[in-house]
Amino acid sequence: MNAHDSEKVVGTLMAQGYAQVENPEDAHLVLYNTCSIRDKAEQKVFHRLQQFKRDAGKGKVFGVLGCVAQQEGEKIFARAPHVSLVAGSASYTRLPEMLVQLEAGNRHVTGLSLDTDETFDTPLTRRDNPNRAYITIIEGCDKSCAYCVVPFTRGPERSRTSESVMAEARRLAEQGYTEIQLLGQNVNSYRDPSPAGWDFAALLARVAEVAGIRRVRYTTSHPRDFVKAIVDAMDANTVLCDHVHLPVQSGSTRVLAAMDRLYTRDEYRKRIEWLKTAKRRYSITTDIIVGFPGETEDDFQQTLDLLDEVQYDSLFSFKYSPRPNTAAVAMADAVPEEEKQRRLAVVQEKQRAIQIRRNAERIGSLEEVLVEGHNAALGQWIGRTSDNRTLNFTHGGAANGGSLVGQYIPVRVTRSGPNSLVGESATVV
Ligand code: 5AD
Ligand code: SF4
Repeated sequence: MNAHDSEKVVGTLMAQGYAQVENPEDAHLVLYNTCSIRDKAEQKVFHRLQQFKRDAGKGKVFGVLGCVAQQEGEKIFARAPHVSLVAGSASYTRLPEMLVQLEAGNRHVTGLSLDTDETFDTPLTRRDNPNRAYITIIEGCDKSCAYCVVPFTRGPERSRTSESVMAEARRLAEQGYTEIQLLGQNVNSYRDPSPAGWDFAALLARVAEVAGIRRVRYTTSHPRDFVKAIVDAMDANTVLCDHVHLPVQSGSTRVLAAMDRLYTRDEYRKRIEWLKTAKRRYSITTDIIVGFPGETEDDFQQTLDLLDEVQYDSLFSFKYSPRPNTAAVAMADAVPEEEKQRRLAVVQEKQRAIQIRRNAERIGSLEEVLVEGHNAALGQWIGRTSDNRTLNFTHGGAANGGSLVGQYIPVRVTRSGPNSLVGESATVV
């Protein structure tokens, strides 16, 4: 989401007559977009600002955007006096106006209000990837997971109208994009504010019907709002990719309650069952937090058991990190750092074994990949399957020596590793 926010911010600036430079050293205006979901993001930002100011700061205007800006607010001006703009994502619609103030010489420009019902729709977005385009469908979050800073940094949920989402999807298809990724902190709670009133499943089905779009992905889902209609929509149209990211965070109902996740282990398993009994084979991935306050060895074991049961295709795992303003900061029974580290290593080792096994099952199969790049050193093309696996492949018949990037190609899988597959293209293109 942050990467896409940056794309929209750059587009907004370009619409105001700014141009993006190759090297930050050449810029007059330097904006840092920041994320504070984990770790000590704020410290990193101040360190980077300091360093940049020292090395190349003469005559430049600096701004801090994103979650650290929202979280630290005007304190940033005191700690980094060379910063002139501090704005959180809920204020980006006001960026043009804030830029005018900056240019008029105002050295304390802020956009920190969270009191908004607007979404950041920009007429121009400067997209980094020529094949896959992101579309934000919902901003902010109305949940209150005890560990999470997002509701404080991104504000309340605001859905875009289905009409503006569909118009953007059609425009992207006309521009030649073939893959769309729908974005939101919790895409499942999308609710069209216009009279059409589409829910997420309806939107998903319609975006998949846009002519020229061959793949649609979405992230991220909250299990509580992941309803059966979403699986049905996916089953009905293979343009909707064979992948669901369904963050569980913990396998223990007790810890899930402490986290205020609003579902139990069994309710989560029900969603997994829908996916496993669906018409198509879906790859399922998740996020895990280890060492949440009060997580016992038994709770942790339940997370490990869930990994055994679900057999995820991939996962992101994190040590719990206390975040400002969140409910969990005040919770007793912190898990010691070394124990968090140990649990993280155990999760990762177990998952690695699962992935080695699951990826090996693909050897011999024929997979369609979207070619995303080329690795010259290995002489391999980098492809991605519908179920979000990286499949690197050699291509014997590049008769015209041209680039395959952006093409959809069938590839036979010949080898596998814990994180990717290797294959040979099955046709001469
Ligand atoms: N500590 C550790 N992990 C966190 N995440 C969010 N907040 C925290 C935190 N305070 C993880 C969750 C979420 C992912 C995006 O980041 O697993 O799903
Ligand atoms: Fe954070 Fe929970 Fe909202 Fe996800 S659903 S952004 S984890 S508060």
